[in-house]
Amino acid sequence: MTKTAKLIIDDKTYEFSIITGTENESGIDITNLRQLTGLITLDNGYGNTGSCRSAITFLDGEKGILRYRGIPIEELAEKCSFIETAYLLVYGHLPSLKELDRFSQGFSDNAMIHEDMKHFFEGYKSGGHPMGLLSAMVGSLAAYYPELIKPHPSTAEIDIMIVELLSKVRTIAAFAYKKSIGEPYVYPRHDLRYIPNFLNMMFSSPAKHYEIRPEAVDALQCLLILHADHEQNCSTSTVRMVGSSKANLFACLSAAINALWGPLHGGANQSVIEMLEMIRKDGGDIKKYVAKAKNKEDTFRLMGFGHRVYKNYDPRAKIIKEKVDALLKALNLHDPLLDIAIELEQIALSDPYFIERKLFPNVDFYSGIAYKAIGIPVNMFPVMFAIGRLPGWIAHWKEMTEDPATRIGRPRQIYTGLLKRDYIPIEQR
Ligand code: CMC
Repeated sequence: MTKTAKLIIDDKTYEFSIITGTENESGIDITNLRQLTGLITLDNGYGNTGSCRSAITFLDGEKGILRYRGIPIEELAEKCSFIETAYLLVYGHLPSLKELDRFSQGFSDNAMIHEDMKHFFEGYKSGGHPMGLLSAMVGSLAAYYPELIKPHPSTAEIDIMIVELLSKVRTIAAFAYKKSIGEPYVYPRHDLRYIPNFLNMMFSSPAKHYEIRPEAVDALQCLLILHADHEQNCSTSTVRMVGSSKANLFACLSAAINALWGPLHGGANQSVIEMLEMIRKDGGDIKKYVAKAKNKEDTFRLMGFGHRVYKNYDPRAKIIKEKVDALLKALNLHDPLLDIAIELEQIALSDPYFIERKLFPNVDFYSGIAYKAIGIPVNMFPVMFAIGRLPGWIAHWKEMTEDPATRIGRPRQIYTGLLKRDYIPIEQR
């Protein structure tokens, strides 16, 4: 039997159907609400608004569950490669050996960026934030591949765009880093796999040999998998919003990179390290910073803590914490910021403020320490998040464009401005 919800306004009752997903998540379908009642809903930050039906990622924030296409994140982080995860997210199933080979070959074939694009990097000043460069370069790809930017690309054209983007974004990211430190670009190599190739482009140079450590590859693989999708977050919703106008995929991803950059979203990993560094330089007084975070007069927040959806320990943070321990041990490193982070977590998790609000460490709390151990500079952390999130953004764009129910995104508002008044000529004001 179909369940319904009743809404009573001025003695009139309206009925709306309740729709239920495969994991029994339910929502009231208010598609006809305005048509029937003349009213809209107001939901600041979309905390209660489902913007679409999606079969990509399941997330239960109360229980701390995250699954891509039904597979628990813990299993993927342990057993899967990033490329397999990308395929799973985008195409909905784990690839066969043949499918994976073809997909991986596409990465090798498309790793180079157009030589002319190198001039774009040269136009930027050294030291600029690499996220600014990344979003500009991804947007610019549309100008280099005009044949791919039609409003209704074919399946074959979409497949080409997917490998082009997944492969090239990694090259663009490494070039952006080289530009920021004033070193020559290192081209992708045919004989290296996805992650070693990225590390080589980042850290090798004609003047020095860079040893690709398997521990670094393993940790980075895990980090990218953990970031690969997270259903309707700010940047993914941006992809869907921009894409709903039938803007091309490059434009959608460029917009998503900018949405991700903010410190409340993917920029948090950079902010966490900056916060830990600030605490260290200030003598390590953790309690002082916990008190600041609780003080409503103070704008300071514990970065890497809290989440709109998780009201339990973020499963990704748990995995990263273990990875960080193993990585530092394997590389024989000691990072004082990890000691501060662990103590900060302990103090916050036993404080009533954080307990009552169910604020736990999120994915960004420990990821920066892992990136740092690999040698990735702090301003590249959000870029690493973007490389990881790319398959998720693409999967959502693909799902949205294939869904006949998709309409252009266009929220409404409750107007709170001035009532009608007349224009006053400038000399009378
Ligand atoms: N430090 C101190 N207080 C906090 C924090 C924090 N990090 N996060 C939330 N609160 C408090 C907040 O002040 C509010 O208190 P009250 O009820 O007294 O007004 C309560 O907890 C609820 O917070 P909210 O701001 O309404 O929650 P939200 O769902 O709108 O925001 C968030 C979620 C992630 C933006 C927020 O928790 C935050 O700013 N965290 C720090 C930034 C961060 O780590 N972002 C990365 C998120 S995970 C990566 C990703 O997927 O983007």
